[in-house]
Amino acid sequence: MSQVYPNRLPILIDTDPGVDDALAILMAHRHADVVGLTIAAGNVGLAHTTANALKLVETIGATTPVFAGCATPLVHAAEDAAFVHGLDGFGDTGYAPSARRAENEPAAQAILRLSREHAGKLVIVAMAPLTNLALALRLDPDLPSRVARLVVMGGAVTGRGNTTVSAEFNIGFDPEAAHIVFCAWPKIELADWELTVRHGIAFDTVARWVQADSPTARFFDAISRKTRAWSIERGRPQLALADPLAMAVALQPDIVTQGEEHHLEIALHGAARGATIVDWDDRSGKAANARIVMDLDQARFEALCASALGAD
Ligand code: RIB
Ligand code: CA
Repeated sequence: MSQVYPNRLPILIDTDPGVDDALAILMAHRHADVVGLTIAAGNVGLAHTTANALKLVETIGATTPVFAGCATPLVHAAEDAAFVHGLDGFGDTGYAPSARRAENEPAAQAILRLSREHAGKLVIVAMAPLTNLALALRLDPDLPSRVARLVVMGGAVTGRGNTTVSAEFNIGFDPEAAHIVFCAWPKIELADWELTVRHGIAFDTVARWVQADSPTARFFDAISRKTRAWSIERGRPQLALADPLAMAVALQPDIVTQGEEHHLEIALHGAARGATIVDWDDRSGKAANARIVMDLDQARFEALCASALGAD
């Protein structure tokens, strides 16, 4: 049990910060006991994602340990998403690097240790390529038995991807890792890309939030400026905040107003590589391994985001 927040939900976040990751991490620190950040490569390379996590933790004065993970996908190399998040993953603001250092313990081992220390209570929020989680599962297949909930931001449940025609970025960056995780985990709570698009947030709402007189608002205003501008230039009607949506599900499970449980598997080959194939009519006879969030309370979602920025 954490000494800092004895009654709060213990949350371990696997993340590739990443602008939307940053807001999700701020939400978690506002409302839960964040026992660690395990860092993946994805949005940008591991050196940047780790440095960004350290800077974020320092900015909010938290003592959350940061554990660097895998620098590459398990099998095949993949393109990053610097065009969305900036070359450094945090909007290329040129921030002074944090004085903090990542722990020596690798991410996969930290996931296993923290699952033992918080056995039965730990909530893992995976909002990056699933490389670290897959490695942890290969090291200890009993991991799911110690974890109360696994919430994943990933996938495109009817094939409307954001990185290829049918693949969402977190799954498409490391499909083999996602395959390992979805084969091993009994029930994953899934907030996919299509849900994210349905629950975008108006640009002027975000613009109002980042004007709040708070260190978190100022920080998020700076790092998100490029991503917001890029989204508007791309003609997106709203700002897509994928990781904050998954974090909202983790923090407030009853925010979900509609969900479906089905078997889900990952396509590993061909044009659909990285796609999340959902057995919507349960034809396969395979057990449901995914609890797919189909709808949630938008007002509560936005309130959680605003509170993380001191804009509530
Ligand atoms: O597809 C959206 C996901 O990919 C988010 O987690 C975003 O941070 C990127 O990692
Ligand atoms: Ca992410």
